[in-house]
Amino acid sequence: TAAAATAGTTDEPPTLPTDRHTGCPFDPPAALTALSDQPLRRMRYADGHIGWLATGHAAARAILADPRFSSRNELLHPPVPVPGMPEELPPAPVGDITGLDAPEHTRYRRLLTGKFTVRRMRQLTERVEQFTTECLDAMEQAGPTADLVAAFAQPVPALMICELLGVPYGDRERFQSQVATIFDQTADAEAKGEAYTALLQYLNELVLAKRAEPTDDLLSDLTTSDLTDEELAGIGGLLLAAGLDTTANMLGLGTFALLSNPDQLDALRADPGLAEQTVEELLRYLSVADPILRAALEDVEVEGQLIRAGETVTVSVQAANRDPRKFPDPDRLDIHRKATGHVAFGHGAHQCLGQQLARVEMAVAFPALLARFPTLRLAVPPQEVPLRDRSNIYGVINLPVTWDKE
Ligand code: HEM
Repeated sequence: TAAAATAGTTDEPPTLPTDRHTGCPFDPPAALTALSDQPLRRMRYADGHIGWLATGHAAARAILADPRFSSRNELLHPPVPVPGMPEELPPAPVGDITGLDAPEHTRYRRLLTGKFTVRRMRQLTERVEQFTTECLDAMEQAGPTADLVAAFAQPVPALMICELLGVPYGDRERFQSQVATIFDQTADAEAKGEAYTALLQYLNELVLAKRAEPTDDLLSDLTTSDLTDEELAGIGGLLLAAGLDTTANMLGLGTFALLSNPDQLDALRADPGLAEQTVEELLRYLSVADPILRAALEDVEVEGQLIRAGETVTVSVQAANRDPRKFPDPDRLDIHRKATGHVAFGHGAHQCLGQQLARVEMAVAFPALLARFPTLRLAVPPQEVPLRDRSNIYGVINLPVTWDKE
């Protein structure tokens, strides 16, 4: 609010409001909403430099679709700092396509999209159904209380990444526990660093194993391309980094949102055919991956304003997805609305590569969870659910739930 108040009274550009956890856990910070009157405005970054903030849906799409805006990490520096991320992590491994521009980006991107075939997607859908059932079985047996994050929201996407990478069954427990440490907000930086190094080491070994003996998975498919071992391991790390925490937090926070909106929950329960639409609306409403950063490679005019070469732009996904000019009554979770066109998966050349998989995971997982536990409810008052306020992916740290035993 301080930032918004300042913006209204002086020419001083506001800083990016990040205190998402202070009001309604599903809404953008009030100070961010207060900035939405101007879809593209100046913004002061944490290091003091002045760049741009896009809060409007049209402005966000225009910037993300325009190749004159770069994703290169070195141009985005100093980026919006993410408090709590261990600083001593090794640099991003080779193959991290999120930080590349065309033509390097295009080469990797083509190779990867070509591997998400219809057959592969059908196979992955069957696996999501299987893993969902297994996790729900275990949760039911251990219940009637559970931490939904540890029992369901985290393991389902983690097992799906194992499936994509072809992690052998015998390695999955170790793999999952290292992944859990990296994403654990409460783990210390040293433990995270160790788990990260061990995981990268494991990915290197996995690539060699797949080269020697290919199995039926995406990583093995990629060994037939001209990518080096280092690139393949980097891509494995990228799929893990991009595909796990995002989906896990959508499942955790999404369940919290449904439990907090009983009319919507009942509507989905009554008609599981609404699952795909519900997933789109939850993606829009929750916008867990936020913000997206870019830097102008040349002078670009957006919405009548001139963004100069070299200037940094922060695209607020959550603000764009709550833009009333695009989504009427934007703060209402309404699973009957058509939320298509949201930017929760980004937009343009870098638009989420795993979005089909993420959609399938969620469209299977939410209805299965509700069908298994017809009396599912929070086990603590909603204000006691711990929120991930120190991570670049928003969500819940855990979600204590309970149900009536049959
Ligand atoms: C890119 C969100 C799930 C792999 C992105 C971007 C967003 C996003 C916003 C664009 C970043 C940018 O433009 O800079 C999400 C959300 C997910 C999800 C909200 C879950 C609900 C997944 C999954 C995978 C995945 C399951 C992989 C299996 C990727 C990759 C990129 C990406 C590889 C980089 C694409 C590129 O730079 O060309 N994701 N993602 N994501 N995502 Fe996802």
